[in-house]
Amino acid sequence: MKQNHLLSIADLSGDEILSLIYNAIELKKTVWTETLKHKSLAILFEKQSARTRVSFDLAMNQLGGHAIYLSQAEVGLGTRESVPDVARVLGRYVDAIAARTYSHQTIEILAEYAGVPVINALSDYEHPCQALADLQTIYEKKGTLKGITLAYIGDGNNIANSLALASALTGMNFRIASPEGYSLTKDVKKQVEKYTLHSGAIITFTSSPEEAVTGADVVYTDVWASMGQEDEAEERRKIFAHYQIDEKLMALAKDDAIFMHDLPAHRGEEVTDKVIESAQSVVFDQAENRLHAQKALLIKFLGNS
Ligand code: CP
Ligand code: NVA
Repeated sequence: MKQNHLLSIADLSGDEILSLIYNAIELKKTVWTETLKHKSLAILFEKQSARTRVSFDLAMNQLGGHAIYLSQAEVGLGTRESVPDVARVLGRYVDAIAARTYSHQTIEILAEYAGVPVINALSDYEHPCQALADLQTIYEKKGTLKGITLAYIGDGNNIANSLALASALTGMNFRIASPEGYSLTKDVKKQVEKYTLHSGAIITFTSSPEEAVTGADVVYTDVWASMGQEDEAEERRKIFAHYQIDEKLMALAKDDAIFMHDLPAHRGEEVTDKVIESAQSVVFDQAENRLHAQKALLIKFLGNS
């Protein structure tokens, strides 16, 4: 691990990601332990959440520790009190902070000042905890990551960034199909390409959903307008109209392909009801794995500390 925080999935090496996946699969077998007895986690969220908040809270409890949820309404991060001050105060109480913020820079400032590990629980730039649970799910369904091809269709957002980086680090092939101007940024592309030199992953960029999905093992999508982009939702609905995952598109993937979505989903927009409800859909396995993957992560950061 490059630092004692998880701000980006690329703060972990490919081997560290794999080892977290193996641990998460092992942790699935026993619900209650005392591994993190007397440890505490602050869950500091500026944005809404169901999965991430519940899975972090339960993970700490099931590992014998304690979690405290702090909403923006209570803390006023950057409004009632400056971000560095909130970080330094929380760092005096808890052993780690899981933070969900609008701006990625806010998480970086929290990490700079907290004096305890900070975990990115979603920012506008990345969602590393989601990527970890997603790779665990793919590993469970396909038995490997190397040689598997994931086709991501839609917005080059936080989910896409973390998945592209995680794929490049672990040797999974990653294809992204997005409208022009909505793919990964130059910086992320550069970083991804650097990791492929070591892992051998093949990364492909296209504007054609059909090209990306053809022969893929995993078809993945996310909302077209993320939290904080509500004003653009109407415009994005038009721009992304041809990027919906429907049965016709799914039929181009391998026969045993799985469909993935981090949730919440906007049925009828990025995915049809039929696809998300089909036998190929593993979206609730993904959601469940958030709990197991984060347990592995919390033990990595807080075990033996
Ligand atoms: N996938 C995910 O992070 O869900 P929440 O926003 O509900 O936490
Ligand atoms: N891209 C979405 C992911 C939600 C889990 C968002 O940022 O709103």
